[in-house]
Amino acid sequence: MSQIYEAIRSFWLPEQASTTAHVIDAPFMFILITSTIMLIGVTAYLFYLPWKYRRRSASDVPYPVKENHLLELSWIVIPTILVFIVFFWGFKAHVDTVVAPTDAYEVNVQGKKWLWQFNYDHGKTTTNELYVPANRPVKLIMNSVDVLHSFYVPEFRIKHDVLPNRYSTVWFEAVRADTFQILCTEYCGTGHSVMGAKVIALG
Ligand code: CUA
Repeated sequence: MSQIYEAIRSFWLPEQASTTAHVIDAPFMFILITSTIMLIGVTAYLFYLPWKYRRRSASDVPYPVKENHLLELSWIVIPTILVFIVFFWGFKAHVDTVVAPTDAYEVNVQGKKWLWQFNYDHGKTTTNELYVPANRPVKLIMNSVDVLHSFYVPEFRIKHDVLPNRYSTVWFEAVRADTFQILCTEYCGTGHSVMGAKVIALG
C-alpha cells in the first residue's frame, strides 16, 4: 500500500529534500486521492444510472421518486467532513511550516528584474547562488527592489511572494548536501523565466 502511495506521490511531486516537505505533501495527497475516488464514483454512476433506468418499451412510464433521507444526509455530511479535514490539516501544515526555528541561519534575499541577490551575515553577497548549510534551519528574509517576485524551491516545498517595501520570510532545512533549483513564480516581466537560480546546500 505504501509503495503505491509513494509511486503516486513521486509521479506528481518532486523529491522531498527538506524536513517539512512531507507536511505539505500529506494533505495534497489526501485531496488528490479523495478527489480521484469521488470522480471515479460519480462518473461511474453517471453512466450506470441512465443505462439502468433506460426506457425499455413504448408503454414504459416512470414511477414517482421517493425521497431518501439517508442518501441526502450522506451527500451533505460526507463532503462537509472532508472539507473540515482539509481545512484543519492544511491549517496545521501552515502553522507547522510558517515559523522558523529561532536558531535558524539567516540570509537576506533580494528579488530584482531579473536576478536573485543573497546577502549573508559576514558581509558577502552572491547572485543567483544561495549557499546554505545542510541539516540546519535557514531563514530567508526577502524583499524586492522593483516588482512582485515569488521565491520557489520545489524540492523544499517553499514558495513565498517577494514584495517591494515589505519583508517576507520563509524557512527550510535541507536534508542533504546538494544543489536545488530556485524559480520565480510571479510573472515579473520579460526576463521572468530567466530568474532561475540555485540553492547550494553544503554538508
Ligand atoms: Cu521574478 Cu518572475
